[in-house]
Amino acid sequence: MSARPTAKIYRGTPRNLRLLANAIKKGEVVGVPTETVYGLAGDALNVQAVKKIFRAKGRPSNDPLIVHLHSLAQLDALAETSPAVEKLARAFWPGPLTLVLPKKPAVPGLVTSGRPSVAVRIPRHPLFLALLRACARPLAAPSANPFGYISPTSAAHVRDGLGKKIRYILDGGTCDIGVESTILDLRDPRHPAILRPGAIARRAIERVLRMPVAAAHDEIVTSTQAAVAPGLLARHYSPRTPIELHEKLKPATTSSTREAFLFFQRPAKLPAGCTAINTFALTKNGALSNAAKTLFATLRKLDAGQWTKIHAERAPGDSALALAINDRLTRAAAKR
Ligand code: TXA
Ligand code: MG
Repeated sequence: MSARPTAKIYRGTPRNLRLLANAIKKGEVVGVPTETVYGLAGDALNVQAVKKIFRAKGRPSNDPLIVHLHSLAQLDALAETSPAVEKLARAFWPGPLTLVLPKKPAVPGLVTSGRPSVAVRIPRHPLFLALLRACARPLAAPSANPFGYISPTSAAHVRDGLGKKIRYILDGGTCDIGVESTILDLRDPRHPAILRPGAIARRAIERVLRMPVAAAHDEIVTSTQAAVAPGLLARHYSPRTPIELHEKLKPATTSSTREAFLFFQRPAKLPAGCTAINTFALTKNGALSNAAKTLFATLRKLDAGQWTKIHAERAPGDSALALAINDRLTRAAAKR
């Protein structure tokens, strides 16, 4: 039996980028930084590399992968485009928007789990863009976490979860946004629908497309919607510690000292039942961008503690980031 690989973290020097691009060209997989969360990237057109991605994550083969590009010119070979795609690309790429489009035959069925559609995006993290250019091929990359666990927002998170399964991680610092991309179903450009909320708002997409956009995630995920985006399972992003979601946290309602409180914004004065030890917050100043950026790291930290339960408070309002944060919290809290 061969020894298990141990991931090494590489800084984004030109030399390291060449080394990692060569590894990818040979069919290896690499943990990569994006502006949303870290991904586990491999050559989307190499079936062996794609198999490695599924294996390393323990991801079921019926959950398709997002294909990442560095330029719009690469898209034509992979998917059917439309004027709507061009408008959205101009407005939001590179950036945290994923489009689900009718696929072309060049994309292996393994990437799309046999679907006739492929999910694509041009990310905006400069090191990932540099790597995409250096290897000059589309890269399939799901979030770089073991299937079902909290997404990684730092190179150390990737190593914690997949360090024994992969060899290479590119360090791009802490992810800027902190929650995964908005996924827009654009298989039929006349009926766009958001499948997963992210930093790009439904209203911003509506303004660019000049038409209403449905939000599939608003409703209970039906079997047909689950068939469209099987990864959007009710239970996801799950810490081992049970989470209970609250509109507003009222700590005095519990007496256990083994329960933690995760506020949206740190309260100026600690309420009864809260101590410096059991009280956490996503943001000090109430900024949603801050809260999104620290969400997954905070859930990981809480999960590493000895808490029997995490009481979490929903993000206020209905902005894109509030919807994204609450979507992830809801899935993390879904019953086993
Ligand atoms: O921000 C992001 O999107 C990150 C970074 C790495 O780019 N990626 C990410 O990938 O979140 P992943 O695999 O964790 O989530 C991708 C989601 C899954 O829920 C999957 O079901 C859905 O995209 N998806 C992929 N291909 C699809 C397709 N053809 N049709 C519908 N949904 C698809
Ligand atoms: Mg994921």
